[in-house]
Amino acid sequence: MGITVIKNGRIVTAVDDYVADILIHDGRVHTISREIPVGEDTEVHDASGLIVIPGGVDVHTHLDWEFGVSKTVDTFASGTQAAAFGGTTTVVDFCNQTPGESPLTGLEEWHTRSASACVDVGAHMIMLDVNDQSLLDMKSLIHNEGVSTFKLFMAYPGVLMLDDGAIFKSMRLAGENGAMICMHAENGPVIQVLIEEALAAGNTAPKYHSLTRPTIMEGEAVHRAIKISELSESPLYIVHLSASEALKSVTEARDLGLPVHAETCPHYLFLTDEEYDRPEFEGAKFVMTPPLRTHSHQQDLWRGLSTDDLQVISTDHCPFCFAAQPYGMKSSKQQGADDFSKIPNGAPGLETRVPLIYDGGVRNHGLSLNRFVELTSTSPAKLFGLFPRKGTIAVGSDADIVLFDPDEAWTIRADEHHSRIDYSLFEGREVTGRVKKVFLRGQLIVDGPEWKGQEGMGQYQHRGDAGKS
Ligand code: URP
Ligand code: ZN
Ligand code: ZN
Repeated sequence: MGITVIKNGRIVTAVDDYVADILIHDGRVHTISREIPVGEDTEVHDASGLIVIPGGVDVHTHLDWEFGVSKTVDTFASGTQAAAFGGTTTVVDFCNQTPGESPLTGLEEWHTRSASACVDVGAHMIMLDVNDQSLLDMKSLIHNEGVSTFKLFMAYPGVLMLDDGAIFKSMRLAGENGAMICMHAENGPVIQVLIEEALAAGNTAPKYHSLTRPTIMEGEAVHRAIKISELSESPLYIVHLSASEALKSVTEARDLGLPVHAETCPHYLFLTDEEYDRPEFEGAKFVMTPPLRTHSHQQDLWRGLSTDDLQVISTDHCPFCFAAQPYGMKSSKQQGADDFSKIPNGAPGLETRVPLIYDGGVRNHGLSLNRFVELTSTSPAKLFGLFPRKGTIAVGSDADIVLFDPDEAWTIRADEHHSRIDYSLFEGREVTGRVKKVFLRGQLIVDGPEWKGQEGMGQYQHRGDAGKS
């Protein structure tokens, strides 16, 4: 690969903010200097007036993933192309163990599915069957396969949920081996009772998804997960945190100096449970777990981002189409037309995360530019064992770089997206700040509206120790 120079950009990392040129060679940042001379063969990109940020790192996606009877609609090719257009150059995606089988088999299958990725990818393992052999396999995943994070579910009894004993054993093993548990924290058995009672009373509309998953049961599960992780002496990462009660427990733990971390997602920051009152079946588009909450929870999440009690904003991109069975899929949101509990849980977001957080966070909620980069790139790279290869612009780092126009106003429209999903949670929302060019390891892959990358160019990321911030 030749030499590429990005000239005159305002380089913003989690800690820096200055104008300079960047010389890229062999896929990495080679030199950063005020005036880099360019030769005839140099590929030059003028970034005057643009901010130059490290490629986004989204550590919560479900691409080409079977969830119960449903399957997410994005392939690795379509999902990662969407990621790239949204300024994200690394995703860490969830693969899972099949009960009765080794998690190593789950990873092997995931490698086959992820071969078409257009940006760099890592894998977390969802553990569904914790026993002596699968605990040994976890060690092998950590030390031989670069999988240093594991998701466990405290929800979905009979499908995904683990009991507290299995959670304790997995956490202890993770802690002893430099790995971290990512916890889906909601009290599944209590929620199950509420769902059964709602359905028995004839309450089948999408809004009952929200009404049967109360915030207090998210708070309870987060508190329990923290206590088990404290006993296990292992780091803990709460995924898709949505509720004040949950944040309160995380804040208390962090104040005690415990290695507890948490992410939230754009939908919890910008949308509320009022979306479930939409007419017809439209509320189903917003059925994800945990569900959208009220405005007061949202205000607490913004506070948590400013005080670093929340360290990451990821998408939980888990796209199920709204229209019936597109792309030959077995199911869509329509599956739950007569029963909210059958609506596939999950929503899209990969393509809009970075601009939404710039618009809503930097422009409207007082986040600094550095904090914006930290939340969307640096902090996830650090916590998930990817830093400093990913998550920053520094000499020696991968040249995953986004040129971002902080002033361009545009409107979010699903039909202009690159994901295969047929709707956006943010349809019609006007945002200011737009991704203009994206480089993956020095190669230009997004040039305005044009796609310049290739399917399969994404590289698997062997990740190091997790839980370090
Ligand atoms: O509704 C959601 N969040 N679906 C994806 C699976 C999960 O729990 O992350
Ligand atoms: Zn989850
Ligand atoms: Zn998820």
